[in-house]
Amino acid sequence: MISKTLKMRLVCASLLALLLADTYAIEQLAAKEKSAYSYKTAFHTLPVDHFGFTNTDTYQMRYLYNTDYWDSNGGPILFYCGNEGNIETFAANTGLMWELSKDMKAMVLFAEHRYYGLSMPYGQDSFKDAAHVGYLTSEQALADYAVFLTQLKKSTSGAENSPVVAFGGSYGGMLAAWMRAKYPQIIIGALAASAPVLQFEGVTPCESYNKIVTKTFARYGDNCVENIRQSWQVMTDMYNMGSSAQTFLKETFNLCSDVSSSEALASFKSWIAGAWSNIAMVEYPYPADFLQHLPAWPVKTVCSKLQQPYWNDSKVLMQQLALAAQAYFNYSNSFVGTCYNTSGETDTLGADKGWNFQACTEMVMPMCADNTQDFYEAQSWSLETTVKECAKIYGVSPQPYWVMTNYLGVDISGASNIIFSNGLLDPWHGGGVLRSYDDRNITAIIMPNGAHHLDLRASNHADPDDVRGARLLETKIIYEWLADAYRYKN
Ligand SMILES: *[C@@H]1O[C@H](CO)[C@@H](O)[C@H](O)[C@H]1NC(C)=O
Ligand SMILES: *[C@@H]1O[C@H](CO)[C@@H](O)[C@H](O)[C@H]1NC(C)=O
Ligand SMILES: *[C@@H]1O[C@H](CO)[C@@H](O)[C@H](O)[C@H]1NC(C)=O
Ligand SMILES: *[C@@H]1O[C@H](CO)[C@@H](O)[C@H](O)[C@H]1NC(C)=O
Repeated sequence: MISKTLKMRLVCASLLALLLADTYAIEQLAAKEKSAYSYKTAFHTLPVDHFGFTNTDTYQMRYLYNTDYWDSNGGPILFYCGNEGNIETFAANTGLMWELSKDMKAMVLFAEHRYYGLSMPYGQDSFKDAAHVGYLTSEQALADYAVFLTQLKKSTSGAENSPVVAFGGSYGGMLAAWMRAKYPQIIIGALAASAPVLQFEGVTPCESYNKIVTKTFARYGDNCVENIRQSWQVMTDMYNMGSSAQTFLKETFNLCSDVSSSEALASFKSWIAGAWSNIAMVEYPYPADFLQHLPAWPVKTVCSKLQQPYWNDSKVLMQQLALAAQAYFNYSNSFVGTCYNTSGETDTLGADKGWNFQACTEMVMPMCADNTQDFYEAQSWSLETTVKECAKIYGVSPQPYWVMTNYLGVDISGASNIIFSNGLLDPWHGGGVLRSYDDRNITAIIMPNGAHHLDLRASNHADPDDVRGARLLETKIIYEWLADAYRYKN
């Protein structure tokens, strides 16, 4: 997540970064709850730079593993490609892998992405300057995983012939797919859940994400959407009216400070906009204790406050919007604190640092809004501006086209054995792979009632049928990959 000072300057560029990081933040907090799974923690020594011969530094990558069900005579390895965050978070939120490990007699392995959690190549100095942080790239991370897996298999008795299946959600899903594409000799297949591998310049239109958020809200009525669509102008008008209207906003939304500067207005709007974006992503069918304590189908709860057309009465619209915001930020009185600081730091766990840099180097993802096809305030996208801003902040030259060149590209038929699962409620599916390539064993799975990588989470009695179906199909396909792998080995 782009830090608040940067956010002002990088509004468009950061939006998507913000969103990915928010998922992360949400998952981070979930991980703070007691993990349902047990594992051992270890560290593996890896080169800081896999691609040159000048820097010979090494670092310690953290990984988690469990061999309770593993058939130590070549049983499979289910490998999670750590993404932006503390790896324990992903271990706690990827129930599917734990469930599969029993049936498949598999080892469960979670590797932490460099520059996150405890896997810091240069300790305290990791983010000091471009010379230190410059090794934070997806390809270095993939090389970490490839080298790690190779060495682990060699040094673990019974694992030498163990086939490895890669898993990941969101950016982790992108890594899983790329892992299979780059290292097919190490990874027999990948489950890439809610992986926006196509969310890049010139491939996915910048308005995609925000259109889908709006569509997810529209399930609960046009008035819900229209109230939000009109709310931004009302906020601006109230701000322009002067102090009594500004105080009205502060009091109605229970903010810690007045909306009395253009910066305060912008941060107020982005605080609200962030809530709508997050909640669409976590439109899960059961209550969940994430960043906020949320009910089942949280978008429905938010929209229940916005059922009438309130937009002709600014005050009523703001009052209802505040109720809707409370439903997200303070569901069943879960907010700790007396008021909302819209410019407050939300990244208590330090994922922002790493993702900000990635979003400004390789992961430049276009984001815009027009207030017509979507309900956000209109905001244009300029690659040029973003690239300039990023270069200024980090002193490096962003490579917005590198991901599409370096990895699968648009025509992914050169790869094989990848499952791309997508929830249609999840705004990220706009940048996902939605079609299958049958003769390549690349299978797209669409879950009309799925939110952000719901299929990777543990089974739940409230899971929609399409999500249950997705898990069954994923399991069946993975078994086929394993059968093939064992056939070739014998
Ligand atoms: C809102 O205002 C528009 C145009 O001024 C009017 O046509 C419409 O009937 C009003 N709606 C409500 C619910 O008052
Ligand atoms: C959270 O909800 C409770 C119960 O409705 C309310 O008393 C409290 O003021 C709310 N907190 C904030 C920050 O609005
Ligand atoms: C809000 O958070 C910012 C950033 O953490 C901090 O500087 C500011 O003092 C906070 N404001 C209030 C009113 O708590
Ligand atoms: C696809 O999977 C089937 C069944 O496992 C296998 O026979 C076939 O060789 C695979 N094709 C490719 C291109 O990997």
